[in-house]
This record gives sequence, C-alpha cells and structure tokens, in this order.
Amino acid sequence: MKTRGQETILKLPKFCLVTLIGVTGSGKTTFARKHFHPLEILTSDSFRAVVSNDENSMEASQDAFEVLHLILQKRLSRNLLTVIDATSIQSFARRKILDIAGEIGAPTVAIILNVPEKTCIERTLQRTDRPFGAKVVREHFEFLRQTLTSIYTEGFDLVYILEGVEIISNTRLDFVDEPIEHQGDVRRELRGDIKEIDTRY
Ligand code: CTP
Ligand code: MG
Repeated sequence: MKTRGQETILKLPKFCLVTLIGVTGSGKTTFARKHFHPLEILTSDSFRAVVSNDENSMEASQDAFEVLHLILQKRLSRNLLTVIDATSIQSFARRKILDIAGEIGAPTVAIILNVPEKTCIERTLQRTDRPFGAKVVREHFEFLRQTLTSIYTEGFDLVYILEGVEIISNTRLDFVDEPIEHQGDVRRELRGDIKEIDTRY
C-alpha cells in the first residue's frame, strides 16, 4: 500500500479472492461497485434475496452463504478474481472462504473498511433498504474489534486496513501480474492512519 498525495494505492494480484470486511454501513457495497465489475462481486444480501425473496432475512443466511460459497469455489477454480461483499466480521465466516481459496491455491486479500461508529450509525439510520438500528452497528463493532486483533494471523496473504471515510474514498486499486514484493511478516504503519500487513509475498 502506497500513499501518493491524497491517494492511497492498494496493489492486488489480478487473480485473487478479495474479502471486504466492515460493519453494516461501512460502505462495502459502495466500495465494491466502485472498484470491481458487477460479475466479480458476490454480495451476501443478493443471495439472501435469491433464496428467500428478502435480502434482509437473516434467517436465510445459511442457505445464502451455501450458494455464495459454491459460486466462489466455481469462480476461483476458473482463476477469476472474486470479491466477497459481506460483513465478514466473524472469524468463522472468513475461515470458510479462506478454506475455499486455499483448496484452489488462490491468493487471498482482506480489505477492512474501518469507519467511525458514529458515521456507520448515521448512515444506517438514514437507509430505507435496511431495518437495522444503532444496536446492530454497535454489535458489529464488537466483532470488528476482535477482527482487528486476529486478522493478521488468519492466513490472508495480504491485509489492508483503510481507516476513515476520506482514505476509503481516495483509494485506488492497482492490479498487478507479478507477486507483490515481499515486505516481511511485520505490521507496517505507513502514515499513522493507514496500516498494512503483507504476510506472504
Ligand atoms: N454511503 C455514503 N458514503 C459513502 C459510502 C456509503 O453515504 N462513502 C452510504 C450508502 O449510500 C448507503 C450507506 O452509506 O446508503 C451504506 O453503504 P453501503 O455501501 O451499502 O454499506 P455496507 O457496508 O455495504 O452495508 P451492509 O453491510 O449493510 O450491506
Ligand atoms: Mg452492503
């Protein structure tokens, strides 16, 4: 990850699994639509809708993720870059997709959108497409805090943490053919508010 002027540039392998991680309202779907082709994005809400007619039906989550995981496996088997647009704030959810990618040998990238709780609550309360209130956002933040401590040891090849709305909106993705230059297994803090770890290359 580099910062050039106001821009943050994330290097990503052209073929990889990208897992977006963030609480409800952090902007995962917005980020995915901005940076990836629609066919590359697997959104959990869409699969909830497909299996239950209701994208907000949490009861449908298990079926929705079974379908999502199957399609993920099929796409990665074809060497197609695939983005998971789900909260992925619980480690068991990340474990499952890491296992699928691991079986295929696909590089794995986590991008955490770390947006202030206040902003996520404000956004969530304004949404007409979600029945969630502030309580759900606060619960998600508990999981996110755990994620921020465990993510470095879970097996992702690359972990990018984007802190705050400004950095997220000024981020550009740079898709590269070559393996990313090895940075060592240490956490590097580039600019105080931007953190990166590169655990494989
Ligand atoms: N939003 C915004 N400014 C941004 C990003 C998002 O105002 N820079 C708004 C979106 O328009 C939307 C809300 O915040 O109304 C949530 O954004 P979304 O991308 O849908 O967030 P997700 O993280 O995908 O939320 P969820 O987990 O509920 O799907
Ligand atoms: Mg979303």
